[in-house]
Parts: sequence; structure tokens; C-alpha cells
Amino acid sequence: LGKYVITGGFRLEGSIRINGAKNACLPVLAATVLNKGISEIYDVTYLKDVEVMLEILNFLGAVVEREGYYIRIDTSNLSPKEIPEELMRKMRSSIFLMGPLITRFGKVRLSYPGGCDLGPRPIDLHLKGLRMMGANLTEEHGFIEAHCDKLKGCNIHLDFPSVGATENLMMAAALAQGVTVIRNAAKEPEIVDLQNFINNMGGSVTGAGTDTIKVVGVEKLNSVKHTVIPDRIVAGTYMVAAAITGGQVKLKNIILEHVEPIIAKLRESGCVIETNGDSLTVNGPKQIQSIDIIRTLPHPGFPTDMQAPIMALMSIANGTTMLTETIFENRFKHVDELRRMGADIKINGRAAVIKGVKSLTGAAVEAKDLRAGAALVIAGLAAEGTTIVDGAQHIERGYENIDKNLTSLGAHIKKID
Ligand code: UD1
Repeated sequence: LGKYVITGGFRLEGSIRINGAKNACLPVLAATVLNKGISEIYDVTYLKDVEVMLEILNFLGAVVEREGYYIRIDTSNLSPKEIPEELMRKMRSSIFLMGPLITRFGKVRLSYPGGCDLGPRPIDLHLKGLRMMGANLTEEHGFIEAHCDKLKGCNIHLDFPSVGATENLMMAAALAQGVTVIRNAAKEPEIVDLQNFINNMGGSVTGAGTDTIKVVGVEKLNSVKHTVIPDRIVAGTYMVAAAITGGQVKLKNIILEHVEPIIAKLRESGCVIETNGDSLTVNGPKQIQSIDIIRTLPHPGFPTDMQAPIMALMSIANGTTMLTETIFENRFKHVDELRRMGADIKINGRAAVIKGVKSLTGAAVEAKDLRAGAALVIAGLAAEGTTIVDGAQHIERGYENIDKNLTSLGAHIKKID
């Protein structure tokens, strides 16, 4: 637990390195179950969600050694124990273990996952796909129990390009008998990273990054070395932080293609963004301009995880922004908090109309989920006076040392426990 105390009005200037992505790392860690051997993974960021995944792997019998951002996981001696509810509930991504565990052990029993509060977050697409591959699933008393002899490849058409379901099914298919084709698959960069990880273990996956992914099941997978891709959402968050303070910030270790959707919108808001190989520099304008329309969409559309941060930016823009959240039903928990800081935002269903105000004023606000929390920190950087963002534990699920990084760029932010 803890809070961030921010004094607004300081321009950000300097450079920081972007570390390995949470959303790439979590499925990769789950996939270490598949190789019954050693996985050496580089650029594993220190994040709460990563800790929970390691805790679960450890509970199942994995030997985990960590040195800085390098991690070595030996999954030779796992046992298919029931994962306790208390661990499963700590994080929604615990569901990623379902596919790897069924395919490795032919059985698994786990409790429904918990996770970020973004409205209903069903796992029906995960379960439907696993059933099509031959898993017998029963859902009772808050637990999901699965068993099967060997999963069989098949054609799966996802009703929605769910990131998690695509990843879970790729992992399940890696050791299945025969060929699995996932259509209407999610195309996020994290899915390409998982494909690379599985292939580096000796698997056979093609098509990640497009809407059709083909997995040819193999008999066994081997030990592997892998470097996690940089976090495009963390990068986007610091880009918006630079923009809102009219600052100049250089980000290192970026994959440009992954942040293009964010760059495009920030340029519309008046930022000048220079790119150079694996780095980019954001120059925030004196006055942020509103962006007529922002719609969150599956990749390569504008990411839903950047919706809250860009709303904070638009709240002090010159003009009105119409923002639609098309991915999650209930992802506007930051709106009331931004209003407390003087923002003029109206919500109608999945649409938000943001009328830019001259300035925000510091207030005591609460981070109710991860990205909502990041948005409030960003708002605090630009607000007059002091902003107190409660709920640091949500922010720490996805940002390592956000206070130290922002301080190194010239922000006035302190964490108090
Ligand atoms: C992942 C990301 C999260 C991001 C989201 C969308 C991770 C760990 N998290 O979450 O940061 O915001 O992608 O880019 O990678 N859905 C169903 N049934 C299912 C699964 C999903 O209806 O079985 C719906 C969800 O309710 C939601 C939409 O599909 O409305 C997108 O969800 P999904 O892509 O699965 O997101 P996550 O994988 O949970």
C-alpha cells in the first residue's frame, strides 16, 4: 500500500530506458511450463504481477533464480497441484497457466482468476478453445477442472480477438497432437513475442501478428533463452507525461512499430516526436491541442491501456475530444477522479466527451486500477499544487519505480507508505 504525492508544474526533461513488457513477460513465464527444462529470460521487470506469476510457478515446483533483470527458471520437476484461490485471485493473468498445464499434465484444477477491475472480464473464449481441442472442462464452486488424454489440434475461430485467449490457446497447441489454426486471433506485439519464445524452444508457430495463427504441435520442447520486448504501454505513459508538462524526454529501448499508434495520436495533439533507431524523443507543445476522435481498438489500433493516460492529457487540451472505449465495458474509473482535479468530462455509455480546461488543480484521488492510476499521476504532473494519488499498489502492478523515473526527469513526486 502507499500513495504518491506530486507537486505539479515541473517540466520533464531527460532520458530513460524502457524495460521488458509486463504483458509479454507474463505469458512467456507461463509458457516455461511447456519445456520441462530451463528457460533463461532477460529483461524481466520487477513488477507485482510478475512476482505473482513467479510465486505460482514456484508453488508448482519450478526452481526460480533471479539476478537483476535476468531470470532462470527450471520447470523439470513440476507437479500438477491445485493452485490455491488466494494465488489465482491476485492476478487475472494466472489463467495463462491453464493452457500450458493441461497440455503438459493432461489435467489441471484452478480457481477463477482475479485481476484488474475493468468490468466483466470473462474467460469463455479461453475455455471454448480448450474444449475444442478436446479438454473436458467442468466449472464448479468457483473452480475450473480440466482433463484430457492429449489435446488435439483443430480450427478455432475466436468471436473476439482476445489477447489472453489467443496466447492461452497458442501455448496449449504447442504440444498438442496435430495442427491448430486460430482465426480472428489478436495481433498484439506481445503475441509475436510469445510465438518467438515458443519457437526458440523448438515449437512451430507461424502467423503471430496477423489474424491467423498456425501452431503445429511438437512432441517436446527444449531449454531456451529469450529477451522480453520493451513495454509499449510504459513507453506511451512516459510519452504522455512528457507531453503534458511541455517537456522533452528521450526514451531508449523502444520498438517503434509497437508505439506507432501512440505516436500518431500524440502528433495530433501538437507533440513533435523524433525517432532514431530504437529510441525516440517527445517534445511537448506549449499548449496541447485536442484530438477530435480517439477510439481504442485491437492492435494496431489505439491501445485501450493508453485510454486513461491520454484522457488525462486531453483534459487540459485546447478544444474538445471525443473518446470511445470499444474494448472494455467499464474502463472509465479515472473519470470521477480527474473531475475532482477540475477536468470537464462527460460519459455516455462507452463514449467520453472531454472539454479541455485551462488547468487542473491538485486533489486527493484514488487509483482504482493500473492504467487509471498512471493517468492520475500524469494529471498530477501538470496540476496546480499538490496531488495525492492513493492506491500505489495498483500502479506497481505495471510500473517499476515510476516515482524514481519521473524524479530523474525533474518531476516532484514522492511515494509515502
Ligand atoms: C490483455 C492485456 C491488457 C489489455 C487487453 C486488451 C495482458 C496481461 N493484459 O488483457 O493489459 O488491456 O489485453 O488489449 O496481456 N473477452 C471475452 N471472453 C474471453 C476473453 C476476453 O469476452 O474469454 C473480452 C473481454 O471482456 C474484453 C475483450 O475481450 O472486453 C478484450 O479482452 P482480452 O483481449 O482478452 O484482454 P486480456 O487478455 O485480458
